[in-house]
Amino acid sequence: MAQRLFNKVAVVTGSSSGIGRAIALLYAKEGAKIVCADLKPSANALVPEEATHTHDSILAAGGQAIFIQTNVSQATDMSALIEKAVEAFGRVDIMVNNAGISLESRDPQPVHLTSEETWDTTLAVNTKSVFLGCKYATAQMLKQDLHESGDRGWIVNMSSIMGLVGAQDKRRFSNLGEASHAKCYQRATVLRKEQSVS
Ligand SMILES: NC(=O)c1ccc[n+]([C@@H]2O[C@H](COP(=O)([O-])OP(=O)(O)OC[C@H]3O[C@@H](n4cnc5c(N)ncnc54)[C@H](O)[C@@H]3O)[C@@H](O)[C@H]2O)c1
Repeated sequence: MAQRLFNKVAVVTGSSSGIGRAIALLYAKEGAKIVCADLKPSANALVPEEATHTHDSILAAGGQAIFIQTNVSQATDMSALIEKAVEAFGRVDIMVNNAGISLESRDPQPVHLTSEETWDTTLAVNTKSVFLGCKYATAQMLKQDLHESGDRGWIVNMSSIMGLVGAQDKRRFSNLGEASHAKCYQRATVLRKEQSVS
């Protein structure tokens, strides 16, 4: 069967573990060249099947991949990520804004006991990163030629049901209407931008 992503270049954030790693491995199997982006290349040490770095697993399977150390909450890192992807593979066809954190899961607290730092870090990694990923990937997609498939480019933004509904142990983010709507609104906004790229 033909590879569905043959000769496409995909940037995947949060690629070292979990969902991001699974996306990177599957996209590579479908023929994409993968730019793995994470804070570190090492996977989750507690998960045996993640013992090998994602880009090494792709290379070992005969695919093409590189790792770029990236903090998705930093504009300079995200801009450099797209630049390095283009340097390595010539273009960006797919941007997967997947990296995310769940600090409230590790230490569930009601809002009045939540630190400002926890709040700021969560919004920077879970929300600002999506804007940055869309911003720099879209700029690249608009200036490059169409892919041989005819596609201009695709952006995938990972969200969470916790942006829509409340949960007892995640009340500081889920039950704060403004916060959850900020995440959903931001993601809805970038989805509209995505349509204009595709
Ligand atoms: N697993 C779930 O049940 C679930 C449910 C809803 C939403 N999600 C969303 O799916 C995405 C992936 O979740 P997961 O379960 O695979 O998580 P995970 O913790 O297994 O993987 C997240 C990856 O993101 C990386 N990361 C964290 N902060 C980063 C930063 N500042 N810059 C770059 N990389 C960073 C981590 O190093 C890690 O490799 C997240 O956006 C999460 O909110 C997951």
